[in-house]
Amino acid sequence: MKSKIEKQRKVALVGAGPGREDLITIAGLREIQQADVILYDALVNPRLLNHAKAEAQLIYVGKRSGKHSLAQNEINILLLECALTQNRVARLKGGDPFVFGRASEEIEYLESFGISVEVIPGVSSAISVPASQGIPLTKRGISTSFWVMTATTKEGGFSNDLILAAQSSATMVILMGVRKIHQIVMLVKDYRSGLTPIALIQNGTLPEESCITATLNSTENAFETIDKTQPGIIVIGDVVADHTSFYDEEIQRVLYSYI
Ligand SMILES: C[S@@+](CC[C@H](N)C(=O)[O-])C[C@H]1O[C@@H](n2cnc3c(N)ncnc32)[C@H](O)[C@@H]1O
Repeated sequence: MKSKIEKQRKVALVGAGPGREDLITIAGLREIQQADVILYDALVNPRLLNHAKAEAQLIYVGKRSGKHSLAQNEINILLLECALTQNRVARLKGGDPFVFGRASEEIEYLESFGISVEVIPGVSSAISVPASQGIPLTKRGISTSFWVMTATTKEGGFSNDLILAAQSSATMVILMGVRKIHQIVMLVKDYRSGLTPIALIQNGTLPEESCITATLNSTENAFETIDKTQPGIIVIGDVVADHTSFYDEEIQRVLYSYI
């Protein structure tokens, strides 16, 4: 027998994972398979939509800097319309809905009209994208915490948290910061050693994944050719030295010291 909540529930806010098709949860996949309508964001892997019912309506709502997308209030209204006219609505969001996903705004709006919403957690890019490059966010003896933050506040400036995190010894995981990478490096260098390793990972967990590593002192050249239109994750902290590029450098240094 279905529970009362499940019967009333109209909308599922589903975390689609960081990009790779099989990094969605089983619960998330089930929602896609059962939905009558799916509203999805730009960072959702479109292959996930192949699991939808043939008659399901698929609506792209975008959200990517520089590309056409609906404004948040338009998405809210569209979601409400879908919830009022369809049986099962899946709102697919990249990563986890509650990590810079504006899920709370959609939930509050729907609930104000008496529509119940269930959140299906997702694998956040904040953790899985560094992991995909073999970069741990914590490591015994190296880092006891990590701080996930955005480089871009709604006012457009840097968040004060960025400065506080730079002053700490936490691993910094910065989302939505590719366009400001040089400013971020300048800011962090005010508080951390120039030898601190940094990584920029784009298209994480996807076949086209790329990762550039450097130290805060050497970013100028390293990041010169990056495609700033592609979203990425910046990781700053000593844990980044676990990336194989640093390992190679270390080997080279040892080998050449014998020549
Ligand atoms: C609006 S936030 C949404 C984050 C999402 N809710 C999550 O938990 O992963 C979008 C940002 O996440 C990061 N991001 C998401 N997927 C990514 C990926 N596959 N590779 C690199 N960065 C990614 C980028 O910093 C991007 O600008």
